[in-house]
Amino acid sequence: MTDDRDRPIQPPRQTRVGRWRHLSLWAVCTATIFATFALDLVGPPAYAANGFPYLLAVLAVPRGRPRPLPVPLWVAALVLALLWGGAVWHGDGNLAIDRIVASALVIAAAWYRWPTQARREAAPMDAAATDELSDMPVRLLTRAVEATDTGIMITDPRLPDNPIIYANPALSRITGYPADEMIGRNPRFLQADLGDQAALDDVRSAVRAGRTADVRVENRRKDGRVFINALQISPVRDVSGTLTHFIGIQRDVTDQVETERKLRDETDLNAAILETVEALILLIDAAGRIVHANRACERLTGYRLDALRGRRVADLLLPPDEAATMAAAFHPDAQGGYVQRFQSVWLTRDGLRIRLAWSVSPMHGADAVDNYYVFSGLDITQRWAQEADSEQARKMEAIGELTSGIAHDFNNLLTVIQGNLEFLSERLDLDARLARRVADAREAADLGGKLTRNLLAFGRRQSLRPELVNLNTLVATLSDFLSRTLGEAITVETVLSAVPPWTKADPAQVRNALINLAINARDAMPDGGTLTVSTSVEPSNDDGGQDPGTGQDMGQGKGQGPDQGQSQGAGRGPGRTGAARPSSTPGLVRLRVSDTGVGMTPEIKARAFEPFFTTKREGAGTGLGLSSIYGFARQSGGYVRIASTPGVGTSVDILLPRHDRLPTADDDRAALGPQGGSERVLLVEDDDRVRRITSAQLEDLGFAVCEAANAAEALERLADPPQPDVLVTDVVMPGGMGGVALANKARAMLPTLGVLLISGYAPPDLSPAADTGGESPTAEAANPLARPFPILLKPFSRADLDAAVRDVLQTVRPGGRSAGPGH
Ligand SMILES: Cc1cc2nc3c(=O)[nH]c(=O)nc-3n(C[C@H](O)[C@H](O)[C@H](O)COP(=O)(O)O)c2cc1C
Ligand SMILES: Nc1ncnc2c1ncn2[C@@H]1O[C@H](COP(=O)(O)OP(=O)(O)OP(=O)(O)O)[C@@H](O)[C@H]1O
Ligand SMILES: [Mg+2]
Repeated sequence: MTDDRDRPIQPPRQTRVGRWRHLSLWAVCTATIFATFALDLVGPPAYAANGFPYLLAVLAVPRGRPRPLPVPLWVAALVLALLWGGAVWHGDGNLAIDRIVASALVIAAAWYRWPTQARREAAPMDAAATDELSDMPVRLLTRAVEATDTGIMITDPRLPDNPIIYANPALSRITGYPADEMIGRNPRFLQADLGDQAALDDVRSAVRAGRTADVRVENRRKDGRVFINALQISPVRDVSGTLTHFIGIQRDVTDQVETERKLRDETDLNAAILETVEALILLIDAAGRIVHANRACERLTGYRLDALRGRRVADLLLPPDEAATMAAAFHPDAQGGYVQRFQSVWLTRDGLRIRLAWSVSPMHGADAVDNYYVFSGLDITQRWAQEADSEQARKMEAIGELTSGIAHDFNNLLTVIQGNLEFLSERLDLDARLARRVADAREAADLGGKLTRNLLAFGRRQSLRPELVNLNTLVATLSDFLSRTLGEAITVETVLSAVPPWTKADPAQVRNALINLAINARDAMPDGGTLTVSTSVEPSNDDGGQDPGTGQDMGQGKGQGPDQGQSQGAGRGPGRTGAARPSSTPGLVRLRVSDTGVGMTPEIKARAFEPFFTTKREGAGTGLGLSSIYGFARQSGGYVRIASTPGVGTSVDILLPRHDRLPTADDDRAALGPQGGSERVLLVEDDDRVRRITSAQLEDLGFAVCEAANAAEALERLADPPQPDVLVTDVVMPGGMGGVALANKARAMLPTLGVLLISGYAPPDLSPAADTGGESPTAEAANPLARPFPILLKPFSRADLDAAVRDVLQTVRPGGRSAGPGH
């Protein structure tokens, strides 16, 4: 098999014509010169006019040449020829040297013309060939055309339908057609049914106008496979400017186009990802200047890309206290690792602080120096606040468990101390000095009781008497009292909600909380100021409002009032405020106490709810105020939040579940007066000392008391007549059965038995159903007795005990008033 490139080259016909014409011209000139010499030497001066053939030979250079002979040559040849002719005319035979010089010039002129002209004629397809090529044999150039990988074809527009007259081997390889199958056809046969019309229009008009074209067209190979042909067409003209040929240069760029497409797709995809991801992506140079930022970055920071570009992160986005965190990103970590991970806080255009978790990786420049850094950041402001929030909640939970455990044990001790002191002071005939001692001891025991009550309140274990409360009424009745108590330097203002803010909570505790907050506010305004108590109804949908769990870091130092920050929610998950709220509650009611006092630093704010945390001097504060409000709010199904800015003021919100039912006359239990004694009370208490003092108190109150040390004993007593009217029982008792189970059993035996629980702390749910687990809620609702057993918290005074027992008797006595369902 012979290689295409070995084929002999067929020079174009026109080339041969040109060469013969010039060879013959050259021959005529030379012959004329030699003939003249010969005649000169041998002949007489009669041949005087023999200079003219030289002149004629010079002038006989063909016309139509693209470049004329240089003018000086023309002039020199003409003058010398005339001189020489003139000398011969005068018959002076000594001028042979002049003739030789003149002859040489004429020959040189002829030579000069000839090869130039011959070269032009011999290479019709390259009218603009350079002089260097002039010496290159045509065969060599043709060999190059044959050897290239680029397809080359020549068409002849002077023939019908501009057919291919030459195709190189590379074109055969590209199209799959041998040269002889292409020659004689217009190249359009390669298009089959395909073709980009715009590209073909381009070619068509270029061909028509005899100009160049540079297009990509879809062509089909002989084997049917489609390929993309990068086609360049250039016209060829002869010396007279007439269009003689077209040269087509073809390359199969299918793979290249595919690669380009893939690259483009990839680039588009990358751009789309970059613009749609939630993450911030920035390209930052080694000097910390932003080179590029994605859409998320614009969205989050509030700056447009043009405002970000070229700016240093440290100048535009970093709060001063954060400068160090960012600087670390530009150095490899301790292990020399590439990807840096860290968190930093940025300031948005609006001055908000956002917390971002970054990973940074350097991008190597061409010289392997880290020129750029790719920053990819996630906005973790919310998550971070929630984590801090739930961390705080966990801490409070643990402290709550601890304090209520201690308080429970102390309550038993205090009950004994208090009861016995009360007993002694009444029964013994003490002199004034001793009576004073006992009074002091009783006072101390009372204070101890208050302390443990606060601790229980914080641990959400206080005994609450929830009632329907209108916060507006509650605030209105207290505001005068507050104005008087807080002193003249403090102005008390109230802003009450237009919608009545009904809630169900223990009114005594709400009052307590309000007074506590007012005292805190007073202490924060030693030089006076304004205390504002306001109520409002918060929408049930929290979306539009401030999520108390997320505001921790926001808006600091902007002087727009206290920032919304720390909060503690009851039953809330670490997430949104509304998430764990009972779905039946139509939102929340808010009681807000704001002051214009010293405010709290973030550190104080973070610890304000902790029991015993106080910044007040020794003896001035117990640090139990906010913690008990916190416990109360949570136990009531709400939460508390603090917003505070140092030097601006503080506002504390108590949020409680909103109640949409208006109170009925039955809800007002205050009208109930005490009833007469002499009823039988069965007292069940495992602690001997507590039992003894309680029994003594009951007897004092006129009740007939029968004692039991545990549930089993109590059940025996219940079985024997006379049956008791009221069961007063401790909640937590040894022997397998607790007070609630006992009460349920006793109720089953004696449906009209009154029940009063006494406890060191109140377990969350003491309803009969909670202990039996079997009763249906509807049966419970139908039975007026099936409601949570009232509970009296230790330590209690005789008066407390009296009130509680009589209260119980009221509800079970035939004809007595009972609290209906829903209470
Ligand atoms: C020198 C030359 C080479 C050409 N090579 C190709 C080619 O490889 N593939 C192609 O589709 N068209 C090629 N063409 C274009 C077609 O020959 C033709 O000009 C085009 O299809 C538009 O004209 P039409 O409307 O007459 O078909 C070439 C044209 C010239 C002058
Ligand atoms: N309105 C307020 N302004 C500034 N700081 C306050 C405010 N309320 C509370 N604090 C800070 O929170 C701390 C805890 O308050 P909390 O009410 O729990 O305890 P206390 O007021 O110090 O003591 P107690 O209430 O038991 O008398 C206070 O010591 C004070 O530092
Ligand atoms: Mg306080």
